[in-house]
Amino acid sequence: MYHPKEDHIDELVAEERQGEALDYPSKQNTGGRQYYIESYGCQMNFSDSEIIASILSQEGLSSTKDISNADFVFLNTCSIREKAEETVRNRLKEIQVYKKKNRDLKVGVLGCMAERLKAKFLEEEKLVDLVVGPDAYRDLPALLDQVESGEKGVNVYLSREETYADISPLRLDSNGVCAFISIMRGCDNMCSFCVVPFTRGRERSRDLYSIIAEAKDLFEKGYREVTLLGQNVDSYKWTNPETNSIVNFANLLEEIALLHPDLRVRFSTSHPKDITDDVIYTIAKYENICNYIHLPVQSGNSRILKLMNRTYDREWYINRIDMIYKIIPDCAISSDMIAGFCTETDEEHGDTLSIMEYAKYSYAYMFFYSERPGTLAAKKYKDDISEDIKKQRLSEIIRLQRQLSYEHNLKDVGQIYKVLIEGNSKKSDQEYKGRNSQNKMIIFPKNGSLQPGDYVNVKVIAASSATLTGQIIE
Ligand code: SAH
Ligand code: SF4
Ligand code: F3S
Repeated sequence: MYHPKEDHIDELVAEERQGEALDYPSKQNTGGRQYYIESYGCQMNFSDSEIIASILSQEGLSSTKDISNADFVFLNTCSIREKAEETVRNRLKEIQVYKKKNRDLKVGVLGCMAERLKAKFLEEEKLVDLVVGPDAYRDLPALLDQVESGEKGVNVYLSREETYADISPLRLDSNGVCAFISIMRGCDNMCSFCVVPFTRGRERSRDLYSIIAEAKDLFEKGYREVTLLGQNVDSYKWTNPETNSIVNFANLLEEIALLHPDLRVRFSTSHPKDITDDVIYTIAKYENICNYIHLPVQSGNSRILKLMNRTYDREWYINRIDMIYKIIPDCAISSDMIAGFCTETDEEHGDTLSIMEYAKYSYAYMFFYSERPGTLAAKKYKDDISEDIKKQRLSEIIRLQRQLSYEHNLKDVGQIYKVLIEGNSKKSDQEYKGRNSQNKMIIFPKNGSLQPGDYVNVKVIAASSATLTGQIIE
């Protein structure tokens, strides 16, 4: 049995994704305007930064990795939890130093926090020159001209139509093998804890043919894996204006899978209320649709799920898990959990632990509840679980998940998996890293002429709760 050592609580508290300076094959500085961008939050934000990069490159702006060379600094921000916003506020304090050195430096806040705080941001943080929400990136070139002339700029208009379908994202920090494709924007669910519907607006699905074209183009450029992104991919719905026929998520998955057997297809996030048997059968039918589903449960207790407005209960969720394992026995399932939602009792928290064991998650993102202004929960319920209890419940969730991940990984030892090589492992250029269909990263010694983007059969020889190590099988 695995006994994870008792870590300090701060380490147990799941990490907010830190801002990452994004770099990409930019042109050398040709004397034109340069910008520096950091992304925070979810994959959708990273994907949006690639759209922003594309819009800016059309305008002749080039990127720099060195903030001291920049004319513009952009933070693409996240509002999902209080800590995510604090991280951005702290980063702005650091950026103040650069602004003092270069008075012409302009600072732009983009993304979800920009949308949530709107023009208020300019009052609260005097160094900010520009505030742009997720649906207004096409307006960036005009807004940059505006701030360069000394004015402040704000555009937080939320659209019902914008999907940036025609914009070909400039791949940031790319390994040349894996890419994200945004298939929809916004969210129409009103989970009571969640700020996303307010920061990203109404749900809209992107034109099927523009998604196919993007995937095809990536494949032709040597990419071998695409991840289809949306807050709730299972509710993808696009009506073909010519035929009036409706394309759902299962149809979309199939279309992308059929492009080429060597193009792997992943997707995120699935919503337990919307994932259909049809989607599960489609995953099973195509070898290149990965056997991995991120299916956030949030809580294992039906009363809490109701308060969360998730619109499913424990039994429904268990039925989805049963169906997935029945149709795809080797499917890996991961989840998100929130500890200490309003009024949650110890017993109800126990239901989250027991559903985790039932689902045998391979991986999970775990958080304690953070009240967000303006959400249904903030309006209707008291945030009445103390921080100590939230952290204690979260640490129990994290400890259990470590054990489940370890048990999941142990089962892989001795198995042979088809792995897509993504690049050198972090530790050594003598080793490659790549993932199997179940989204498990495997590290293995290099051999012969294999390159990133190649598929290789790897036998797993050892496992920890975090990684698998293996050997190439000829
Ligand atoms: N669309 C996805 C989730 C997007 S947000 C879904 O429906 O599952 C990513 C995760 O952040 C959520 O799954 C949830 O677990 C967590 N989260 C969202 N709001 C939160 C809040 N107010 N406090 C703590 N965690 C939160
Ligand atoms: Fe937030 Fe719920 Fe939408 Fe996910 S489905 S983004 S948790 S409102
Ligand atoms: Fe954060 Fe916005 Fe994503 S709030 S999680 S960056 S959709």
